[in-house]
Amino acid sequence: MIIDLNGKVAVVTGAGRGIGRQIALTLAREGVRTIALDVRQDLLDELGSQFAELGYEGAQYICDVRDALRVTEVVREASELFGRIDILVNNAGVASGGVVESLSEDVWDANMDINLKGTFLMCKAVAPIMKAQGAGRILNAASFAAIVPAFGSAAYASSKAAVKQFTRVLAGELGPWNITVNCYSPGMIPTEMNHFAELSEERQNRLLDTLTLRRWGSKDDVCSLICFLASDHASYITGTMIDVSGGKLATQIPKAAYDVAAQRDVKAQ
Ligand SMILES: NC(=O)c1ccc[n+]([C@@H]2O[C@H](COP(=O)([O-])OP(=O)(O)OC[C@H]3O[C@@H](n4cnc5c(N)ncnc54)[C@H](O)[C@@H]3O)[C@@H](O)[C@H]2O)c1
Repeated sequence: MIIDLNGKVAVVTGAGRGIGRQIALTLAREGVRTIALDVRQDLLDELGSQFAELGYEGAQYICDVRDALRVTEVVREASELFGRIDILVNNAGVASGGVVESLSEDVWDANMDINLKGTFLMCKAVAPIMKAQGAGRILNAASFAAIVPAFGSAAYASSKAAVKQFTRVLAGELGPWNITVNCYSPGMIPTEMNHFAELSEERQNRLLDTLTLRRWGSKDDVCSLICFLASDHASYITGTMIDVSGGKLATQIPKAAYDVAAQRDVKAQ
């Protein structure tokens, strides 16, 4: 199977660092003219330099996805720049938390406004462009927290569960225009959002023990899924959430298999 995205136009939010930056670089490598949005100019400048060095086509715009006016302005500029928008990746997100009794309204609002409202505002601005084209791909970053929340994650998990449901509603609304809307749940991918790689060995092991594949995911694992979902091969997939988390949600006690495998290795020696 050859995934051909050459010549398409994408908008990626939160593309300054982490998974979003890798998505922007990967799409651009595949020949997609890629417009990167972020709240941090320093990160966009770094990404712009990478695009220039690699000869990738695209643009970078400062844009807080919570800001409806700015979102509308940037989407208009982006669509005028390359004449269309084929792919929208709503990657921008934050994951601050705390137990409900001491959770501040500010933290609650930040999670809801960036993760959920930002996704809504971007989709609202891009949908008319995709409808006029009679085609489009919208990909929203959810999380396995949308299904199985972690301790102290009320704000984050609630926002991501809402992204999952929003995705289904929008898929239903945009189906007649050949626009697919899906979300994906990445994990566990060490980034500056979660600092997994800097945890003590004991805490890392505790997290790894929850994964069927028992290793950290890579940003490229997510990018492969994004490329597939953005391609013609995924034209009959919509309104769903695809898990790219090494089987985080697949089995109850994945460590049991590793314990058995380790015992067999010992016996075989
Ligand atoms: N890393 C993981 O294992 C993991 C797991 C589940 C879900 N996710 C989701 O994947 C996405 C990316 O995560 P990451 O780990 O790369 O995070 P990250 O913190 O490394 O990157 C997030 C990016 O979003 C940008 N951003 C933050 N607020 C913004 C706003 N208001 N407007 C525009 N941009 C904004 C940041 O500047 C940053 O560049 C998030 O939506 C996150 O919830 C990640």
